[in-house]
Amino acid sequence: MRTINIGLLGLGTVGRGVAELLRDNTQEMTRRLGCEIRISAVCSRSQERVQQLCPQAAWETDPLTLVQRDDVDVVLELFGGTTLAKDAVLKAIECGKHIVTANKKLLAEYGNDIFALAEKNNVMVHFEAAVAGGIPVIKALREGLAANQIQSVAGIINGTSNFILSEMREKGSAFKDVLAEAQRLGYAEADPTFDIEGHDAGHKITIMSALAFGTPVNFGACYLEGISQLDSRDIKYAEELGYRVKLLGITRKTEKGIELRVHPTLIPESRLLANVNGVMNAVRINANMVGETLYYGAGAGALPTASAVVADLMDIARLMNAPSQNRVPHLAFQPSQVKAQNF
Ligand code: HSE
Repeated sequence: MRTINIGLLGLGTVGRGVAELLRDNTQEMTRRLGCEIRISAVCSRSQERVQQLCPQAAWETDPLTLVQRDDVDVVLELFGGTTLAKDAVLKAIECGKHIVTANKKLLAEYGNDIFALAEKNNVMVHFEAAVAGGIPVIKALREGLAANQIQSVAGIINGTSNFILSEMREKGSAFKDVLAEAQRLGYAEADPTFDIEGHDAGHKITIMSALAFGTPVNFGACYLEGISQLDSRDIKYAEELGYRVKLLGITRKTEKGIELRVHPTLIPESRLLANVNGVMNAVRINANMVGETLYYGAGAGALPTASAVVADLMDIARLMNAPSQNRVPHLAFQPSQVKAQNF
């Protein structure tokens, strides 16, 4: 049976989830796929952690060495951030290795360069886990709704902020206590400022906007306002008026151009989005043929994110030997059709 060899960059929360998923679901996945997925090498600071979670894999300390190994077919980038991750991903693409990444910051800030290099080198870059954790919303935008003109995308796409807002409303907890709990549970970014100041949601809505409207990724155009200035009185007053406060990422096509923004929003409590609580995410897409669709699920955490990462690995495994014209374009539109727009 054919084996797809994975080089794993990073063995933090999501890396652990991937190792556990591959351990527990291997039989089912192999039956679905007709080939095996195996982690052949891992780049991590801790050799002990590699031995514990991926005992069959070789330990590497240098990401650039890992991506060049002959026994690596697909590089799974779970470092996060844009320094090591960017160098390793670009090098891997130059070496003809396919990429799966959960790194929204990397794609929102350098996606145009990465996708261009990938097209040039005939390499696939898959990134379902970069947006809304375990919810297959990239697939929805790129494939499920491909016959539509997308009008708007709006969603709760930062689990940490939603967890904080929910706990403040339901239990009257203090902002900083809930944030500490989100960090302990592995939901928050390495630097939680990214969660609470709207950057993480901005990265995600920027990626969805490019997929929805066939534009280059343009994080610089995204208005960002987080939840750090809110206190429990804001939430309480909103509730008295029949509203919930949610941090939304929104992108819309208007006559003047494309809107791209993240900010706390008052939502009437009867609406579905108002009732998305805890670390859950939800994305609402309006499209001209299907109308409104809503995607709901776990937006952060080891196993939900691993679910999206490994589904991407399976997609790549299926397409690796297929003609390149069978692949879906990285940004939903053919590269020659991706057009700059007013934001
Ligand atoms: N820090 C992110 C969140 C993790 O809370 O949603 C998933 O991208």
